[in-house]
This record gives sequence, C-alpha cells and structure tokens, in this order.
Amino acid sequence: MSLETDPAALALRAARPTTLCVIGAGYVGLTAAVCLAQLGHRVGCVETDPGRLRAIRAGHVPIEEPGVAELLAAHLASGRLRVTDDVAEGVADASVAMLCVGTPPTARGDPDLRQIAHAARAAARAATDHLVLVVKSTVPPGSCEALELLVAPERGDVRVTVASNPEFLREGRAVFDFFHPDRVVVGVDPPGSAELVVSLYPAAWPRVVCDRRSAELVKYAANTFLAVKISFANEVAGLCEALGADADQVLHGVGLDARIGAAFLGPGPGFGGSCLPKDVSGFVAVAEAVQHPARMARAAEAVNEDAIVGLVAKIESAVGPLRGVRVGLLGLAFKAGTDDVRHSPGLGLATALAAAGARITAHDPLAVVPQMPGLQFDDPYEAARGAEAVVVTTAWPAYRELDLRRLRREMAGSVVVDAVGVLDGAALSAAGLEWYGVGRGRPLGFHPVVTGPLEWALEGEPASGPAISGGPAGG
Ligand SMILES: NC(=O)c1ccc[n+]([C@@H]2O[C@H](COP(=O)([O-])OP(=O)(O)OC[C@H]3O[C@@H](n4cnc5c(N)ncnc54)[C@H](O)[C@@H]3O)[C@@H](O)[C@H]2O)c1
Repeated sequence: MSLETDPAALALRAARPTTLCVIGAGYVGLTAAVCLAQLGHRVGCVETDPGRLRAIRAGHVPIEEPGVAELLAAHLASGRLRVTDDVAEGVADASVAMLCVGTPPTARGDPDLRQIAHAARAAARAATDHLVLVVKSTVPPGSCEALELLVAPERGDVRVTVASNPEFLREGRAVFDFFHPDRVVVGVDPPGSAELVVSLYPAAWPRVVCDRRSAELVKYAANTFLAVKISFANEVAGLCEALGADADQVLHGVGLDARIGAAFLGPGPGFGGSCLPKDVSGFVAVAEAVQHPARMARAAEAVNEDAIVGLVAKIESAVGPLRGVRVGLLGLAFKAGTDDVRHSPGLGLATALAAAGARITAHDPLAVVPQMPGLQFDDPYEAARGAEAVVVTTAWPAYRELDLRRLRREMAGSVVVDAVGVLDGAALSAAGLEWYGVGRGRPLGFHPVVTGPLEWALEGEPASGPAISGGPAGG
C-alpha cells in the first residue's frame, strides 16, 4: 500500500504536538522529519551536507524513498518543517532533538560514533531550556549514557538528558514503515520519564518502554536475528545444492511455520546494505567488549562472507578460469526499491570477480556507483553484451520481465546465475541459457546417493540410541 492510498495513516496525529529538531537528513532523518511534521509537530531539520541541504530546501529529495517528496512539499508549504544547516536555529524552542546521523562501521567493525558525538555536543550547546536528545541512530548499548556524560560540559545550567528511540524502517518503504511500526521502542533512565518521547507518536502505536541499554540492544539484536535468518536460509540452500533439493520449496515449507515466518528466509547473495552488516559487526564488537562469545552472530557473518565466495566459485566452475572473462552484473543496489549501494552484494561480487581477473559490466535501474566509471549501462542488455556469464544480484521486478532470448543473443556465452531467484528456470533453459542459482538451478557438487542416513536400513537393524522423551516445544 502506498502512503497516498492510506488516508488513515495520513490522518494520524501525535499524542502531543511538540517543537522538535531532527539532526541529519539521510534515509532516517529526512523520513522522520517529514513524517513527524505530518503527525502535527513543528520540526526544524538540520543537515550539514551542503548538496543535500540545497536539494531539500528546494523540495528535492536526495534519496530514493517513496512518499517523502510529497510530505516534504506539503510541510515546507505548511510551515511545520524548516530546513537549516544551523543547529542553534534547529534547536531553538525545541524540547527534543532527534539524532539521526550516520554510525558507519570502522575498519575493526565497531561503529564510528564521531558524527553522533559531534551532533549531540552541538545540540547541547544550542539548548536554551530542558532538551531531550533522542538517539534514533543505531548505537551500541551504553552509548546514551556515554553521550549524557559527553555533553555535560557543553550544556551549562540547562538540563540535557538522553533517550534511546531506535529506528526500524526499511529503505524503500521508510514512510510506510514510519506510519505502520511493529513497535516504538523508547529507552529512558529512569523508565518513568518516557512520557515526552512516547507522546511524540500516536497513542495507538504499540510501544516498548524500557531502560536505555535494553532499547539500544533491541535494535542490535533484531538486526542480528534477521541476519541469522538470512544466513540460515543460505546454509539450507547450500545443503539443497548438495542434496539435489530445491531451496525455494524447502524454505517455503519452513517459512510457513507460524513460529518461524517466511520473511528474510530466502536463498540469495547474502545480506548487505547500510544496516545489517554494520549492526551484526557492532553486536559482535559489543559482545567482545564484555567477553561474551556471540557465536550466532559470528556464524551469520561467516556464512555471509561465503555467499560471495560461493557465487564466484559457481561462476568459475561454469565458465572456467575468470581471468579476462566478461561478466555482466544485473543489480548493484543492496536490494530492490532503493538506490543504496552500501555493502551491496552486487558490488561485493563485482569487487571479488574483478580481483579474480574478470571484466565487469553492470546495470541497475536506480543505483549509480561512482567507482565503476564507464562500466555501468542504462540498459540490462547492454550490460550483458559480449558477456560469458550474467549474474542477477538484485531482485528488481524489471528483471523478471527480461527478454531471455534477446539476452542470449547479446551474450557471448550462455551462463546465467540468478542469485536472487527472479528468473524462471524453464524459460531460461528454453532460451538456450544455462541456469544456476543459490539452492536452485543446475546443481554443482550434487551428491547422487546419500548413504549416511540410510546405513542402518542397508545393514538391516536400526542403530540403537538413547530413548528420547518429549522435548519442550519441538515438532
Ligand atoms: N538507512 C536505514 O535503513 C536505517 C534504518 C534504521 C536505522 N538506521 C540508522 O540510522 C542512522 C542514520 O542512517 P542513514 O541511513 O539515515 O544515514 P545517512 O548517512 O543516509 O544520513 C545521515 C545524515 O546525517 C548528516 N549529518 C552528519 N552529521 C551531521 C551533523 N552534525 N549535523 C547535521 N547533519 C549531519 C549527513 O550529512 C547525512 O545526510 C544510522 O545509525 C543507521 O544505522 C538506518
């Protein structure tokens, strides 16, 4: 459902209209700013990137996010939204400053908190009355407490407190997600002081009010669990390839179990984007800091690294040594519906293939990668021209409509690796293409006879094992 067709969401109002400031106008901040204005708040949005600021002031949205442009235009016009590069102007009269700046990973994998420290200090310096800094950015547990100490020297006699209110939106659906949250998590110490932050949102929205460390950990744990699900699906897909089973059917059957659910349970090129890889490595870094092993998170990371390695190996076994081989990549955005290429599997694969000596060409309907000058084409068939292999790495709906016979004519070879499962296997074969996938398509390393589980039957007697009595929740 698009926002425009959802008048119920648009008619929602905050429990208590407030003057607030949003610092950082990226995917999270700009979406929050326009949606908070829609809820009835007066919002000062602060952005320091001159290009982004200019665009937003002119009513242009510098990110690909459906619904943001309409709300931006509406609230620049209504006067409920102001955009500035001056924190003092943004914070003036505000009782809340939402920190929505980036927390990118360092080379070690832990999050770089310099943007948030800088923004918090600037907001505290500009505060004229009690200000609550609400941390929407994803930060490790303990960060809100550390920020409160950090800003203490800046705030003079003015009271500045820090609350956690992590953001769960998905890129490409950010406005929809803002108005239809599964939950609003608010972390405050002491928990009784949550009222101001809670009242920023409509009273009917589900909420979790807890202490700050717990709120910060909800976000890390949720994203780590999603990553674990994706990696588990890829582990099953690898097993499907070895057994000759079909990962789509297997995971569909698994996901229909209401205790498990189908979301994030598809085989593919692994998880990417600006959040999951960073938040899983952040989870691991936090765990390391307190000598906790974080075995599941580490396993999810290891399986994810293997996803790209596995695709390279698959392409190589299909076309032979990669040096000098042309490979056309379809999809550079980390997922369909966004122009974001941060940690995208497509880009990761391009880098790995180039390192192996392959020559890469690519297409994406939205994403532009400055590091690939001259190698990116506006048309998927041009990207495929002269390629020995084509690899589909983002599940753009347009790729489902590809004319496969034309694709075959453009290519020099016939190998298609559909890493995201958007193409029809039978149609690929009918077009004269060799179809490989993740857990589907032509099996590589398939074991025709699986003897292990059958050994007892072949030998006549079942092996005796310990008696198993009913476990707690198994099925
Ligand atoms: N992108 C997502 O899907 C998503 C979802 C949930 C949570 N998050 C988290 O939210 C945070 C922001 O993510 P994003 O994707 O919006 O980042 P982003 O990089 O798109 O946007 C951050 C913006 O903050 C601006 N900025 C930095 N310092 C500033 C300052 N001192 N004053 C004003 N502006 C400043 C930057 O110029 C940039 O425009 C991160 O912690 C991220 O992990 C992101």
